[in-house]
Amino acid sequence: MLQFKQNIRGNVALGVNPLGCKQEVLNQIEYVKKKGTYPGPKKVLIIGASSSYGLATRISLAFGAGADTIGVSFEKGPKNERNLGTAGWYNNIAFREAAEKEGLVAKNFVQDAFSHESKQEVIDYIKSEFGGKIDLVVYSLASGRRTDPDTGETYISSIKALGEPVVGPNINMQNQDFYTETLEPATEQEIADTVKVMGGEDWQLWMEALKEADVLADGVLTTNYSYLGTELNHAYYGGGTLGRAKADCDEKANNINALLADINGKAQIVVATAVTTKASSVIPFFPVYCIGLYKVMAEKGTHETPIMHIDRIYREMIYGDKAEYDEVGRLRPDSWELDSDTQAKTKALIQKLNEENFNSEIAAYDILYKEFSILSGFMVDGYVEQEVTIEELKALKY
Ligand code: NAI
Repeated sequence: MLQFKQNIRGNVALGVNPLGCKQEVLNQIEYVKKKGTYPGPKKVLIIGASSSYGLATRISLAFGAGADTIGVSFEKGPKNERNLGTAGWYNNIAFREAAEKEGLVAKNFVQDAFSHESKQEVIDYIKSEFGGKIDLVVYSLASGRRTDPDTGETYISSIKALGEPVVGPNINMQNQDFYTETLEPATEQEIADTVKVMGGEDWQLWMEALKEADVLADGVLTTNYSYLGTELNHAYYGGGTLGRAKADCDEKANNINALLADINGKAQIVVATAVTTKASSVIPFFPVYCIGLYKVMAEKGTHETPIMHIDRIYREMIYGDKAEYDEVGRLRPDSWELDSDTQAKTKALIQKLNEENFNSEIAAYDILYKEFSILSGFMVDGYVEQEVTIEELKALKY
């Protein structure tokens, strides 16, 4: 029988429990089904579909709105007993199996979304098999590197401050350690490279390719998840390299709006709330902000996991009547996080945290750690240990 071991390096999860991942996908489906159905898009393409925000989007739209979905992601399957692959691999499989049981189309493409070939394969599939044009394109990609499809040059993103170094507390989940970290300011090259990877260029390339191929429906919507944050994380997020990349997405949204005007399409930046994901766990200092924020929001009853947040965004805001936009037209579901009392309490709480108390009941390290573990299939509610062999895992098809 295979033993699944949670293996954490720094704030990166290396181990995976494939059956726990499956149970978590089923839990999220259950969450959406309990809320009932809502009128929404029927043909959806999700780029970055295998975990956190992208996966939650796919689950909400399939099981809430009855959408057929295409998911693009970059994941690895099992090789042997010591290398079982990545959580997203198993999430893709669990999603497809559950969606197909309900008669929905759920096509997975596991490949580099940044390449031209990847876009072409998806387009060919839409034309030949998907059975209709796309009415929603969700761009939910998070990556540390990108190879430019024209030049072949690879760019690496850096999560850094601008101008001055930032010094502050961080958490290492491997050692359950609370320590002081210094984040150096980025060079001009690092800023440009981060924009190249996490900015909106690839989103625009996708939309141009899909439009050119005539696979977008009249009135198509495309969403892209952004983060603006607050004064408490401005120095290393909104005011850092990632903030520059997000500003680039705002600009590219304008280009995409112009591109889609003749088919009545729209590009929508969605400023989403802070959640525990593979991508956010490695942002310096962010875990400390999260354990303060989550504690305050949990007490107020406003703390959300990705499925809760995303389902609210599509069900109540985009396809409902509770949308809140800011002055430049971005959708603002992050208003619960930004609530002034929530921020004031989070600030006061974070200032009290130290090595002795960060892991106590005054903050929400327990929530952060559980949510982080669930991403790899550990600590999943309702999980029951089962026997599975490596051959059985290898035989699963995405
Ligand atoms: P994640 O790491 O959980 O998911 C990233 C997805 O991108 C995965 O499906 C992965 O397979 C896919 N991916 C990465 N490289 C790829 C490639 N080369 N080709 C194809 N697929 C690839 O990330 P998360 O946190 O869900 O982020 C999604 C978006 O949400 C990002 O734009 C992020 O900035 C944004 N966001 C995240 C927040 C957070 O607190 N986590 C808050 C607000 C916005």
